[in-house]
Amino acid sequence: MRILLLGATGLVGGQILKQALENQSVDFVVAPVRREISSHTKLSAPIIDFDHITKAMLKEWNVDAVICALGTTIKVAGSRDAFSKVDFEYPLAFAKCAKEAGVEIFVLNSAMGADESSRIFYNQVKGRIENALKELKFRSLYFIRPGLIGGERAEFRLGEILGKIVLKSLHYVLPKKLRINPASSIASAMLQAAIEGKEGVEIMTSDRLI
Ligand SMILES: NC(=O)c1ccc[n+]([C@@H]2O[C@H](COP(=O)([O-])OP(=O)(O)OC[C@H]3O[C@@H](n4cnc5c(N)ncnc54)[C@H](OP(=O)(O)O)[C@@H]3O)[C@@H](O)[C@H]2O)c1
Repeated sequence: MRILLLGATGLVGGQILKQALENQSVDFVVAPVRREISSHTKLSAPIIDFDHITKAMLKEWNVDAVICALGTTIKVAGSRDAFSKVDFEYPLAFAKCAKEAGVEIFVLNSAMGADESSRIFYNQVKGRIENALKELKFRSLYFIRPGLIGGERAEFRLGEILGKIVLKSLHYVLPKKLRINPASSIASAMLQAAIEGKEGVEIMTSDRLI
């Protein structure tokens, strides 16, 4: 199968890319990015303008499934609007074009607490994108909802570092759903979801991502 991977340069996306390239069920990965990445015989990584996503791109890429691991933080993005662009507008634009191009499997890296009516802006945006994707009526739609993601990241995120110290020290007493979710486990769940493409909407909670 052919997979469209969004966010291939990220912590989770990087793991998905590695696993997809090694997976026998995946024939080819298209991973649109903002900067050049290492080449591979099974990979096309076009540098695109994320503000201009078109149905023609999706037609040309001819994929069977979309895996979206795009994301940012309000701090990095600079504003709530800029954050929403990456976590809501881009995934939705890709999803709409994919659906129009005949793709029927979409796997989203959402987050624990995703809820459109949440008072927490981050959770609200994650809830909004989940609901907007549901309206597109993909045959197979997955929301992967991790808690704190584990793995090495180049960027310094103080909140994440402190969170990981606390969660690691409490690992054995915490309920499964509150434990750190390794990026590799999230990636594996997302890739398997795309390959299986079960009919309906499935929410995968953090206790299944450890
Ligand atoms: N951090 C956590 O503990 C946590 C917990 C629950 C859920 N999540 C969610 O999990 C998902 C993946 O997280 P992650 O930690 O793997 O993310 P990450 O490492 O920050 O990677 C994000 C990806 O999105 C891309 N991206 C960011 N801004 C962009 C923009 N303006 N235009 C185009 N691409 C852009 C990045 O590309 P560049 O490399 O070009 O920047 C990168 O490929 C996110 O949706 C996040 O909200 C995170």
